[in-house]
Amino acid sequence: MTTDEKVTLSEEKETLLITVYGKAEESRLPDSLLRDRFAADAIRRINYDFSKLKVRRDDMISLAIRAHLLDGWTREFITRHPDATVLHLGCGLDSRVFRVDPPATVRWFDVDYPEVIALRRRLYPERAGYTLLGSSLTAPQWLDEVPADRPVMIVAEGVLPYLREDEVPRLFGRLTAHFPAGECAFDCYSRFGVRLLRRHHSIKATGASVHWGLDAPHELEVQVPKLVFLTEVSSHDPAQLARMSRVARLSYRVFMAIPALKKAGRIVRYRF
Ligand SMILES: C[S@@+](CC[C@H](N)C(=O)[O-])C[C@H]1O[C@@H](n2cnc3c(N)ncnc32)[C@H](O)[C@@H]1O
Repeated sequence: MTTDEKVTLSEEKETLLITVYGKAEESRLPDSLLRDRFAADAIRRINYDFSKLKVRRDDMISLAIRAHLLDGWTREFITRHPDATVLHLGCGLDSRVFRVDPPATVRWFDVDYPEVIALRRRLYPERAGYTLLGSSLTAPQWLDEVPADRPVMIVAEGVLPYLREDEVPRLFGRLTAHFPAGECAFDCYSRFGVRLLRRHHSIKATGASVHWGLDAPHELEVQVPKLVFLTEVSSHDPAQLARMSRVARLSYRVFMAIPALKKAGRIVRYRF
């Protein structure tokens, strides 16, 4: 393995550095939620000026909360279906497969652009039952590589807003036609939330464009009839909120008091 991985990704691919750095740095805090030592090891070996992303402590904690929730939903699904397939879309350098550490009965697929997958291969070890697929999510062929014989847990963290409006329902249409049954869990933003996300200092630093918004979870059920909405989380656990700065806690209270802001960002779960 190399020890100095120069990274020259741009736009939506570069945003993976925001999330892996945020998770790595949160893991160095004494009260860390995620304890992602895999991300911490990976960023030590990446040659990139992370300071340009201006990832703040509050951002790190928010990223850890989101990742921890999605890890928990993935573990739950695997407990119910020890023979599951896990499909991790737009994995970037996220170490979910190592954090969740599924039993050998689970088949796990990480999917992202070929350049990202090539970088992942240089930074993380292989493991049994784990396959990396290098493709754009919007290309139809990659799904042919994934056997359709088992219940599937589909996880997409910080990914779908980078897809265009029509690409997300089309992707879920293909996924729900491919697998017999399963669940999908991902974060999403209302159209207003997407406008706020475009102004986020770290995303602006990468030049990435954000497109897909979902004003209400039921909208996706209409576009993808096999999907059944299960649950959403749009607020932080008070114990985690208490770790944030005063300014963040105050802004959060304001957000929660105004309906359009409260629903600006959510983490949702569907079944099919
Ligand atoms: C903000 S990063 C999140 C990475 C990872 N999920 C995490 O939470 O650390 C966004 C990721 O989505 C990937 N991505 C965006 N659009 C994609 C597409 N059309 N096909 C495949 N990957 C895509 C990017 O390459 C990047 O790795």
